[in-house]
Formats: sequence, structure tokens, C-alpha cells
Amino acid sequence: MGKNSAALIVLIAIAVLGVIGMVTSRGGRMDVPPSVPLGGPFELIDQNGAPFTDKDLSGQWRLIYFGFTYCPAICPTELAKITRALKNLGAAAKDITPVFISVDPERDTPSVIKKYLKSFYPGFIGLTGTPDQIEQVKAAYRVYAKKVPLDGTTGYTVDHSSYIYLFDPSDKIQTLYKTSDTDRMMADDIQKRLKEYKP
Ligand code: NI
Repeated sequence: MGKNSAALIVLIAIAVLGVIGMVTSRGGRMDVPPSVPLGGPFELIDQNGAPFTDKDLSGQWRLIYFGFTYCPAICPTELAKITRALKNLGAAAKDITPVFISVDPERDTPSVIKKYLKSFYPGFIGLTGTPDQIEQVKAAYRVYAKKVPLDGTTGYTVDHSSYIYLFDPSDKIQTLYKTSDTDRMMADDIQKRLKEYKP
């Protein structure tokens, strides 16, 4: 690689980091500046086929993850991480609701999600909806997810962003955990936030 192309890559990297800087990383965790609104109203259905809205989570700490059940690696890893983090929290875990929201509503029906979540934390709420409802909730949470055709098949996968959102009982985003954060880090951080939280 020439000197010029190396310099160009550095410039592109700086530009990309600038965009990501809207949600800045500090001390390994994502701190969300108040200027970036995240979350908001949604209407979906849960893994039992019952209507479920944002109001059903109000007043609760919750960990929210967007993914899809056909995801080969990242989603199961992150859901297993949430499961371990909650187990690490012990008794405090009862105050936190873990939520999985599908970015693949065509394949992720309530029954598919229900079966899938049996492998993870028992209290998991799994949500899906119509493609429009999913687009709406993705926009509110600034989730990137895009269908990508699989070569040589009629199937597809879904490219998607992978953050774990922690909201407090007043519906305020507390932090975002990244794929590089461990279950231990998450549990310690949640414990600290539960202790420091003033409604
Ligand atoms: Ni995934």
C-alpha cells in the first residue's frame, strides 16, 4: 500500500469515527449524549401472539437487543451474554427485563421466537410485528438492519447493528453495550447503575 492510500484510509477512518462519535465510546462502554434521542413508542406482538407496546416496559429497567433468530453467530452470542450477565447479577436481575426485537419479521413469527428464546434467559420477552411496525421501531432506536441475498440460494441473511440498550424505569437510555463488552463488565456496570439510580 502506498503512502497516499494509507493516508486516505486514515482520513476515511477519522470521518467514520466522527459519525460514530454521535454515540461516543468512553472507558469501553458507550455513553449516549442527551442530544441523541433513542427509543420511543412502538406497537408489536410478543412471542405468545399478544399485543405488546412500549408502555408494557415503562417503569422497568430493560435490556433491549435487536436481531433475528436465523442469525448464525452474533445474535446467539449476544443473547447468551445477556443471559450470563443477568445470572451474574443474582437477585438484582429480577428488576431487569430482557427484550429481543426481531429485525426479520417475515421469518420471525411469534412461535419461531418463542422456541428460539427457550435457549436463553427465562424472562426474555420476544417481539415481532408487521414489516412497517418493525421499520418504525428500528427508526426509533436507530437500528441498522438490511436484508442481504445469499449467493446461489433464494434465502437471505440480515446485516444488522448489534448493541444492547439499557433503559431505566423512566424510559431514559442509560447506556449501550457493544459486542466487545463482556458479561462480567455488563453485570458490574448494571449493578452500579441500579445503585446510583434516582428516579
Ligand atoms: Ni445477528
